[in-house]
Amino acid sequence: MKRRFSNLSSWSLAIMMGASFVLIRPAKSADTAPATTSGQGKDTQMQLAQPRGMPSAEAIERAVKNAYESTKGDESGENADYIPVLAKVPSQLFGIAVVTVDGKTYKAGDVDYRFSIQSCSKVFTLCHVLQESGDQAVLAKIGVEPTGQKFNSIIAVEEGDGRADNPLVNAGAIATVSLIKASTPQERWEKLLNTYNRFAGEKLTLLDEVYKSEAETNFRNRGIANVLFNSKHLYSEPMECTDVYTKQCSVGVTALQLAVMGATLANNGVNPVTREHCIDAKYVPRVLAVMLSCGFYDESGTWAWGSGLPAKTGVGGGIVAVAPGKMAIVGFSPRLNEAGNSVRGAKAILFIDQELGLNLFRGSEAPRQVGMR
Ligand code: DON
Repeated sequence: MKRRFSNLSSWSLAIMMGASFVLIRPAKSADTAPATTSGQGKDTQMQLAQPRGMPSAEAIERAVKNAYESTKGDESGENADYIPVLAKVPSQLFGIAVVTVDGKTYKAGDVDYRFSIQSCSKVFTLCHVLQESGDQAVLAKIGVEPTGQKFNSIIAVEEGDGRADNPLVNAGAIATVSLIKASTPQERWEKLLNTYNRFAGEKLTLLDEVYKSEAETNFRNRGIANVLFNSKHLYSEPMECTDVYTKQCSVGVTALQLAVMGATLANNGVNPVTREHCIDAKYVPRVLAVMLSCGFYDESGTWAWGSGLPAKTGVGGGIVAVAPGKMAIVGFSPRLNEAGNSVRGAKAILFIDQELGLNLFRGSEAPRQVGMR
């Protein structure tokens, strides 16, 4: 990734400035469905803090429309070009898709354009391995620490104990692929694609041109795989793992399909459209924790600060954010900032997040009563 921009991307600047495009205010109570009552029996008189309700359909629709209108004029950033074919994707494309846990969809702009899923795929490979081998395998063999480095850092691998740090950087994603149980690379790939299909509720396919372009130029990832293998932290043959990883990044998705994948996580692992069980609910908080701490690479802290939402970006221009128990939001636009994250995608998600009051750390608007245990 070339360094072309100042350290502050326009979406992170927007967070700092309180942002003219972002309405930083709590969701209006009129915009939310009735909150569930948590106090029962003898506790009912104790006005327990209520979880915020699901935003109404009108509120989501309005947030998506306004996010699109207020973000579409931002032409900052540039397409990724270290994978040559990505430089040719029309830069003006911009789409927003929201899928809720009850399977409703909301969209604006280019939501049917098929772009390469790129690093957003890493989340679903992690899901596959968690389901197949459990969370201790991921913790011990890969790790869950943010690197504070670029997504394709080799230094990050070298500096630590030789492990890949976390499943959402390139090193960790290749290591995650190496943990998939399979006797051939083809079987490894088919199992993975099948998992992606179940999360999307549709058959996804490889974008051949993207795969070819990346496979011809992925010398750095091959290097990372070799370094990991050398320190015994890659668990299958390095070039085979790199190839399957390259394929997973080249899977084509629309913003809508990616939003269904994210909404499956929001819905505790059950696809809200097909109702298929894709991952055990007990693993979902693990996945979301890694997304929050590592999903934006060296911008993960700024993202968490501004959004309070787990999210994952990809150099194809997609970003998927998850509001647990509520919805997934996808912003897609090919122009990236220097960390490799979609400028308009991030801005649009932040807008919707703040408009609907989705930040996980805001707690309840109702103050707890004095004397309540
Ligand atoms: O391995 C790579 O470099 C790409 N296939 C994926 C990188 C990526 O998407 C980083 N995310 N923003």
